[in-house]
Amino acid sequence: MTDETYTETVDDDRRDFIHIAAGAAVAGGAGALAWPFIAQMLPALDTRAASSLEVPITGIPEGGEIRVLIGGKPFFIRHRTAAEIAAAESVEAGDLPDPQTDEERLVARADGTLNPAILVVSGSCTHLGCVPVGPGSNTGEFGGWYCPCHGSHYDTSGRIRKGPAPTNLPVPTYEYNADGSAVTISL
Ligand code: FES
Repeated sequence: MTDETYTETVDDDRRDFIHIAAGAAVAGGAGALAWPFIAQMLPALDTRAASSLEVPITGIPEGGEIRVLIGGKPFFIRHRTAAEIAAAESVEAGDLPDPQTDEERLVARADGTLNPAILVVSGSCTHLGCVPVGPGSNTGEFGGWYCPCHGSHYDTSGRIRKGPAPTNLPVPTYEYNADGSAVTISL
């Protein structure tokens, strides 16, 4: 693949991202409602091969979520509410099926500080790969994502709490840009 091809692919994804973001904003942050846009894009994007994507985060409303595809793989970028953060931090990690603190699931900004408001996770259920619906759907028992395929419940940190999924929604490789206004997710 040439550099030119790569750039074009990323631009295509960015355009789709803007489309998704607009849908999410109209939906008042209900990520689940943004998903139909993604589902329609899957066949086309599966044939592409982008390996990273920069996602602006400053426009994501509190309680809102953006869903993007990179190389055909879904990722969620959620601007968590104070209540969602508090819920995630209040859990005793040792009691979880896949023990991990909320802090361990965050990536530091360029200045070394954490930004608990922004959570970035894979959008593939760790059971058999379905795409969970978002916290805005109010279908999960732990205030987070819910996979309707076989009933896996994830909390507001994307950690598995109930159901057949064996592990938490993975935190992908990502980094903040210099001023913390965007994250770049890499495969
Ligand atoms: Fe999500 Fe089975 S694929 S619960």
